[in-house]
Amino acid sequence: MKVTSSEIVISAVRPDQYPDTDLPEFALAGRSNVGKSSFINKMLNRKGLARTSSKPGKTQTLNFFLINESLYFVDVPGYGYARVSKSERAAWGKMIETYFTSREQLRACVLIVDLRHPPTSDDVMMYDFLKHYEIPCIVIATKADKIPKGKWQKHLKVTKETLDLDSNDDIVIFSSETGEGKDKAWAIIEKYM
Ligand code: GTP
Ligand code: MG
Repeated sequence: MKVTSSEIVISAVRPDQYPDTDLPEFALAGRSNVGKSSFINKMLNRKGLARTSSKPGKTQTLNFFLINESLYFVDVPGYGYARVSKSERAAWGKMIETYFTSREQLRACVLIVDLRHPPTSDDVMMYDFLKHYEIPCIVIATKADKIPKGKWQKHLKVTKETLDLDSNDDIVIFSSETGEGKDKAWAIIEKYM
């Protein structure tokens, strides 16, 4: 995909704030600080469009990015951030659940995990949630630049085994630093459009 235009359309918390369109949508999910917003920026060749931070918990709302007037990426707040209250966690759960279970134009979830480490129990829970609702999943194993290339396949195998990855779901080794995996990720997304 050659990205010629990208813009943030709205930061939403409730369904009545979601954009009123039927363009295909791809939502980002993953642990807080794993690199969801950085993934969006790399895919769109935009440095600061999706706000990133070295501190977890940067993204707090559902942020809708319109791309080439033909699809949306939806940046989603991360899970597994320890320093949030019970009520904040409950609000997060409701916002996410409502979006993932009711948004008809959602074509697939892009689940971002860290290639360096086995997926966490929260990652496995998120993946199982998607499977339960029969939402196709594209797994992006990011931060590949942080480990030697010779170890990528070994880490990929652990990621697949820990998630018990469905044979229908794609997985891509990625880096928002180097752009590794970007073309492959776009090809998979286009397949779902
Ligand atoms: P929340 O919005 O808090 O859920 O986080 P997020 O998942 O959107 O993470 P974000 O994109 O803000 O990135 C978190 C940190 O990881 C930032 O310091 C990024 O620069 C860094 N980071 C993200 N992706 C990569 C990557 O591929 N390689 C390296 N080396 N650093 C990365
Ligand atoms: Mg973010």
